[in-house]
Order: sequence, then structure tokens, then C-alpha cells
Amino acid sequence: MYSADRRRLERNGHLLIDRLAVLASAMSEKTDLIGALNWRYATKEFDAGKALPTETMERLLVVLRLSASSFGLQPWKFVVVEDREKREPLVEHSWGQRQVVDSSALIVMCRPTEFGEADIDRFLESTASTRGVDLESLAEYGGMMKGFIGRLDAATQADWMSRQIYLALGNLMTACAIEKVDSCPMEGFSAVEYDRILGLADLGLTSVVLCPVGYRAAGDKYASLAKVRYSADEVIVRL
Ligand SMILES: Cc1cc2nc3c(=O)[nH]c(=O)nc-3n(C[C@H](O)[C@H](O)[C@H](O)COP(=O)(O)O)c2cc1C
Repeated sequence: MYSADRRRLERNGHLLIDRLAVLASAMSEKTDLIGALNWRYATKEFDAGKALPTETMERLLVVLRLSASSFGLQPWKFVVVEDREKREPLVEHSWGQRQVVDSSALIVMCRPTEFGEADIDRFLESTASTRGVDLESLAEYGGMMKGFIGRLDAATQADWMSRQIYLALGNLMTACAIEKVDSCPMEGFSAVEYDRILGLADLGLTSVVLCPVGYRAAGDKYASLAKVRYSADEVIVRL
């Protein structure tokens, strides 16, 4: 081989290696989101012997706090139950599903039983102090939100709050997947019984949806089942 050709090949080889290095570093900086979403599944069996590190749990709670909500009103409270004695009586009100007790923590996602003008005033005060603006400058915005909330009947208002909570649930599940934490969204429970047993009604709350978090048990056969999802052609509509 001519030395010029050899040099060119070597140079191209180096360029290729450089490109691969750049790609690899970009990949390591970027989260493998699709991989994480394929890894996660609605965990049926948690390993009761494995607890989430405190720091990981705290990160998940930050994710909940950072969730978006309509007007930013955050009509939610996230009740964290780690104590297994408190959780054991919940199993019979969860269709017998043991995730609520075997997980590292059970997050009971709640909405307030009442939501009104005082909550909007509280939010306005929080906005004013966080952003360093006059409360009066937010009066029109506040009036608009009060008008919106005031026009909803109780059932529609409850539904509106639940929708915000489901957004937080989605964020939590995705964050769990990225953090290699297992989770299971759960609607299979009695809100009335949860509210009673956990004393949520006394806190002015009612449970909406659950999300136990922790680590999958080695024997959970659901972990290896293929994902059942419609094809892109069936669910994505491009106009
Ligand atoms: C709102 C909601 C409620 C759910 N309730 C339960 C439940 O009570 N128990 C359970 O084992 N799975 C529950 N699931 C899990 C779904 O069955 C599961 O997400 C779905 O079959 C897709 O499977 P995958 O999440 O494992 O990919 C629920 C999921 C959602 C989104």
C-alpha cells in the first residue's frame, strides 16, 4: 500500500474513533429514556427486604414537588407511608395487592377535600414572595383563577384536581424508571378505607391514586413479560 493511502486510512480511522468517543460521551450524558421506560413495569411483587436509600427517596419527592399543574395551583399532598405496621391493614382494602406493604414506601397521592379562594390566595402570596413581586400586581390573575375554580361544581373540581395528580404520578413513574427504582401505579384500592385508616379525612385530604416504590422481588414473573403496546401506526395520528 502506498504510504499516502496508509496515512489517509490511519487518519480516517482516528477520525472515526474520535467520532465514536464523542458519541459515547454524548450517550453517557444523555439518559437512556426509552431504555428506562422499557425496563420499568407495574411491579406486582416487591422485595420487602430492600429499602430505597434516603437520598433516592428524597429525589423522588422533589420530582413530585416539581410537577406541573393547572395554573400552578398544586392541588395535592403526597402522603408517604414507610411504616409497615401502618400499611398492613391497607392490603385488604387494596384488592389483596401486597405491593402496598412490601414496597419500600407507599406514596398515597391525595387531593384536598375542599379547594377554594383561600387556596388561590395562598398561591398568590407564594408567587409574590418567590418572585419578589407585589401581591396587588397579581390581583387580576387571581380573579381569573377564582372565577375558573368557582364555576366548577364539586365533582368537576374533584376531577380537575385528580387530573393534576395523575400528571405527578406520570412524572414519578418516569423518574423511578430513570433512577432504577420500581413502582406500581395503583387504582385498585378503596379510597374511603384508606382515608379512614390513615386518618386522611382528618387532614382534609382524600386519596386519589397510589404509587408504591421500591425494588422488584427476584421472583416477580411480570418483570420478564413483553410490553403490550399498540404500534406507532395505531396510536400516533399525524395530520
Ligand atoms: C391509573 C393506573 C392504575 C393502575 N392500577 C393498578 C393496580 O391497582 N394494580 C396493578 O397491579 N397494576 C395497576 N396498574 C398497572 C397497569 O396494569 C399497567 O401499567 C399496564 O398493564 C401496563 O403495563 P406496564 O406498566 O407493566 O408496562 C395501573 C396503571 C395505571 C396507569
